[in-house]
Amino acid sequence: MSFAELGLSPKVIDAVAAAGFSSPTPIQAQAIPHALQRKDVLGLAQTGSGKTAAFVLPMLTLLEKGRARARMPRTLILEPTRELAVQVRDAFETLGKNHRLTVALLIGGVSFDDQASKIDRGADVVIATPGRLLDHFERGKLLLTGVELLVIDEADRMLDMGFIPDIERICKTLPFTRQTLFFSATMPPEIQRITGQFLHNPERVEATPLSSTVASLEQWVVKAPSDAKEKRETLRQLIRSQTNINNAIVFANRKTTVALLEKSLKRHGFNAAALHGDMDQTARLKTLSAFRGGEVTYLIASDVAARGLDIPEVSHVFNYDVPIHAEDYVHRVGRTGRAGREGHAFTLVSRLDAKHHKAIEQLIKKEIAWFGDTPKEEPREAAEERPKRQQQRHAAKPARQPKPERTPKSEKPQRPHRPEPRHLPDAPDTGGFHSGNMPAFLARPVRSA
Ligand SMILES: Nc1ncnc2c1ncn2[C@@H]1O[C@H](COP(=O)(O)OP(=O)(O)OP(=O)(O)O)[C@@H](O)[C@H]1O
Ligand SMILES: [Mg+2]
Repeated sequence: MSFAELGLSPKVIDAVAAAGFSSPTPIQAQAIPHALQRKDVLGLAQTGSGKTAAFVLPMLTLLEKGRARARMPRTLILEPTRELAVQVRDAFETLGKNHRLTVALLIGGVSFDDQASKIDRGADVVIATPGRLLDHFERGKLLLTGVELLVIDEADRMLDMGFIPDIERICKTLPFTRQTLFFSATMPPEIQRITGQFLHNPERVEATPLSSTVASLEQWVVKAPSDAKEKRETLRQLIRSQTNINNAIVFANRKTTVALLEKSLKRHGFNAAALHGDMDQTARLKTLSAFRGGEVTYLIASDVAARGLDIPEVSHVFNYDVPIHAEDYVHRVGRTGRAGREGHAFTLVSRLDAKHHKAIEQLIKKEIAWFGDTPKEEPREAAEERPKRQQQRHAAKPARQPKPERTPKSEKPQRPHRPEPRHLPDAPDTGGFHSGNMPAFLARPVRSA
């Protein structure tokens, strides 16, 4: 199968060859023809399998007809994080090098006015995080009635609790007849059920088993103590045991842990930098670009870096904390082993993580081997024989789960017509858990921990 057989325009085929893509990946081969026929698509494929080009390439071909009007973008791509929006803008520019299209990037934490003047001149494509997009809309800088095509990347994340009120608002302002494309590597059943609200007779394309991890990824679980100091020592020993690290991402569940780990690793001589949602945007982008450029070897990150980021050099992912959501595991480890490359992922598992560890193995339908020691199961009798007072204490105080990070205060510019900012959609690190106006069936109880 070649790109030419998919119905893409000659300009697009030329750009694809210049980007070094010799043949389409399975998700591209399956999704592109449907997208070109203006059908809605639900595209599901593993991390690093080329989903970005699966929507960018048909968009470029479709955009060759027609032109942009002031304040009325023709297409819209929504992304859950600012870093990911920047990356997709870059991909759009590389693959769209033969098209003279105006691409506007609307993300929080950076100048509003520059963005507004770009839309004012007419944008063919808007790539946005939902919060900043709504800011422009509410200030009357943007009309969404001309949008012919909507892409929701990381669709399950975008329909999750923290984002859905904004997504619903945005979709209500778009024309009913628009085309909609959804992409993700994961799609929990409770989210899948609501996709029908946004897609009309979609073509479902599942290039690889849903939520599976890639074959070129070597995955391990590592027995870890629950004490934080000892756990950091375990992480250092683990990192030192790996002789083939090029670049690595270390994920932690909370921003405070990210900051602490960064400090501690630096103190022990590791070339580390932190990335989390409480940092200002300039620092976030600077850190990421230093990591991409190889100036930083260890990126210590919250789940703000879990989805979509494409840094081919990442050889290792270390989960200092087991993610609370099994889907987050798939995305975190998917930052390595991309596009057929080798990858290595290690997850520190303490006694308290048994439930989440099991949920991950159930989701990916794979048992993850222990690296080094296999933890011994505590014999049932031993637990029963515990002194009575200790047993009572255990009953009264259940094992503590890590709390999700608190949603940061809004760092957005004023929102004159918005009564109360319910959340900061483009910056939650673990998912901005909000019970706000949510239907009960959408509640994902594990998130609340
Ligand atoms: N047809 C192709 N041939 C070779 N490389 C490709 C092709 N399509 C995409 N790539 C490369 O594969 C890498 C991964 O692509 P991309 O970021 O789109 O993956 P993804 O499926 O969106 O992953 P994730 O689920 O993590 O977001 C990128 O570096 C991209 O340039
Ligand atoms: Mg992607």
